[in-house]
Amino acid sequence: MKVTTHPLYMNFAHTIIAWQRKYGRHDLPWQEELSSYRVWISEIMLQQTQVTTVKSYFIRFIKRFPDASSLAKAPLDDVLSLWAGLGYYRRAQHLHTAARIVHEQYHGEVPTDPNILVTLPGIGQSTAHAIASIAGNLPYAILDANVKRVLARFLGIRGDVEQNSVKSDLFTQAQALMPQDNCRIYTQGMMDLGATVCTKNPTCTICPIQKDCVAQKKHWQLLIPLKKKKKAKPTRLKYYLLAYNEENILLVKRSDQTIWSNLWCLPEFNSMTELNDFIPSAYKGDLCNLTELHHTFTHFHLRLMPVLVGSSALDFIWPANIQKIPLKSLADYGLPTPIEKILYSRIIAT
Ligand code: ADE
Repeated sequence: MKVTTHPLYMNFAHTIIAWQRKYGRHDLPWQEELSSYRVWISEIMLQQTQVTTVKSYFIRFIKRFPDASSLAKAPLDDVLSLWAGLGYYRRAQHLHTAARIVHEQYHGEVPTDPNILVTLPGIGQSTAHAIASIAGNLPYAILDANVKRVLARFLGIRGDVEQNSVKSDLFTQAQALMPQDNCRIYTQGMMDLGATVCTKNPTCTICPIQKDCVAQKKHWQLLIPLKKKKKAKPTRLKYYLLAYNEENILLVKRSDQTIWSNLWCLPEFNSMTELNDFIPSAYKGDLCNLTELHHTFTHFHLRLMPVLVGSSALDFIWPANIQKIPLKSLADYGLPTPIEKILYSRIIAT
């Protein structure tokens, strides 16, 4: 990638670095020790999740899996149970697969070369560059949502930042602005500026780059980044069989499905008729619809209808995929958040 050393660009990096040192975030848990393993875990957790949520998950994860080899050797179920609640579970599966590759092919050392990093599952170009620049202190520019907003405003880019041609142009510009030294401070500074100053409603008066910012000069701050019309999300309704007694609950380990793959879940049905057909006649009279729950995914809304069946249903011999799980060991199972809500409001609270 070509590196431009335009004076304005050199000044830009100096300004960001000085600002980060003074005003940036320095107390994030992964900053205590910037090893490539810790930076990798934090960047994956931060891909779709807020810093405030990630902090405690990161600490617990690192305590249980302090390096790539310990993660590689663990059963996927253990990884998913630590991930439960963070969402986007594919990330945890990719981490686990990638840890095995790192353990087998890279002696357990997470590489900092972005060309190698992008070959690992779950690592795209921006994440590879974040790991390379933060852990390796190497001059590779990132382009996450925060940085896209900062750069699009600074450069006055009015196009759709999600469109490939605009994104590719932004990446070139981001790389041109990237300094050769203090790379990790610069990268963190760009993220921090986007997260704390150049936000949706930016505080331009305290921004270190306001003087040269095109959006500030032209009053385009609220026009950039361009807001696309969001497509209305469809709503799906699913029914979940809630069968438990004082000791056990019936759960199913989901296979490779679009949502919650490999997590543990209540048996799921597409309709009440489907659920009814599944239930042995002795228990049909014992069904009771509970309060519906709502959960939103990237592409759709899910309405979850828990359907309680009498506790005697635990005596039935169910198909092998439906397992009796002891209530006292529920915490060891990776459960999707809305399912956990159903279980804990119903079972633990009663
Ligand atoms: N978002 C993505 N990476 C981050 C980091 N290193 N610090 C804060 N927020 C982030």
